[in-house]
Amino acid sequence: MRAGSFLTSFALANAHVGQLPSRLHASSQLRMAPGVVRSASKRARMVAPVDSRFVTGDVGNNVTPYIANLVGRNLHRIDSHPLGIIKDKIENYFNSLEGQSFEIVDDLDPLVRAQECFDDLLIPLDHPGRKMGDTYYVSRAGGREQSSPDDMLMRTHTSAHQSTLMREGKTAFLCTGDVYRRDEIDASHFPVFHQMEGVKLFDPELVGGAMSKEEWLASPGCELIAADLKKTLEGLVDELFGPVEKQWRDDYFPFTEPSFELDIYYNGDWMEVLGCGVVHSNVLSNVGLEDRHGWAFGLGLERLAMVLFKIPDIRLFWSDDKRFTSQFKAGDITEFKPYSKFPPCLKDIAFWIPDNFEPNDFFEAGREVCGELVEKMELIDEFTNPKLGKTSHCYRITYRSMERTVTNEEINAMQEKLRVRASDLGVELR
Ligand code: PHE
Repeated sequence: MRAGSFLTSFALANAHVGQLPSRLHASSQLRMAPGVVRSASKRARMVAPVDSRFVTGDVGNNVTPYIANLVGRNLHRIDSHPLGIIKDKIENYFNSLEGQSFEIVDDLDPLVRAQECFDDLLIPLDHPGRKMGDTYYVSRAGGREQSSPDDMLMRTHTSAHQSTLMREGKTAFLCTGDVYRRDEIDASHFPVFHQMEGVKLFDPELVGGAMSKEEWLASPGCELIAADLKKTLEGLVDELFGPVEKQWRDDYFPFTEPSFELDIYYNGDWMEVLGCGVVHSNVLSNVGLEDRHGWAFGLGLERLAMVLFKIPDIRLFWSDDKRFTSQFKAGDITEFKPYSKFPPCLKDIAFWIPDNFEPNDFFEAGREVCGELVEKMELIDEFTNPKLGKTSHCYRITYRSMERTVTNEEINAMQEKLRVRASDLGVELR
């Protein structure tokens, strides 16, 4: 339900993992928003303190306590967690290659300026990825609806650190972190996921130095970098998946030119693995490196881990349940063994929507009220009544716990709270 594609592959890391079943088999910790009482939650987490850096009440602040509570878990830095295991494998691969070694950066603050996340990357002010509906803002300098380089936000991709790290003089690095996007809710979408960014700059002696953009794009140096990028990433997927069939497609990102996407044929299906390209000349000249050239790529760790470990639901990565965590060992990719499966509880909710209705606001309300008990929120019916001039949406909500059977009573209470929250969004319940 993204309003527009940020970059053509903005949702790449979070995109559907085609052949995975959407059923759940596992347990998770529950987190509570203020005022939400969940008696059955065995592992309720603390709510974000009132003085959270992320929940400020500043203009444009749309980070919820639920999201703020996920900051700092650093799943990618746990070496026996599937995300950490994949991260280590990728880092080891890159540092086994001949040539410069890649600096490892994995502890940067996810709270960044729009300057870093968007402007440094040539993403224009009116780009859909900068909208409040798609991105978590801590504050908006120019008002709720106005993008500005001074906006403070939760990074939406690890590319947010490219320019800063290059300014610091790094020429080859792998930067991993949690990224945040307001999005739909299902087995492969969670508002927080993890990405790894890779950047490598080349010796100007080898690829050429400062030149006009046109000259650069037509030069053998640019070709050399694109070829090195492709070879390196093909080696990476072979390392992770074994020798697989691959396909390169042209793509578009504002900060790379040319840009590519890599697909692999795995388990009987084509799957998008990553986005990449030759770093745009203007990105480099903006950081004072007009004489340098290089490549960059970005990949989603959950997406790879769900396929490689056969993890059927993205919420599982956040689970503290021993039955999940104890299955994995540093350095090993092993198949996840489902340990239980509890029945879902389905509830529908229908309302007339106001003109400016943002489905992501409703999905957010779902996370806020129901935490990880909500497995899916799906638009199942939409119609416009021409006489009333009004449009109705009906959503089916799948509730399911990964650790127990939910009761109809508790879900009814939750659904009621969600109805109240929905009416706060200006919808008219039916
Ligand atoms: N940041 C892009 C995304 O989130 C991926 C990317 C990284 C593309 C680096 C090109 C270069 O989809």
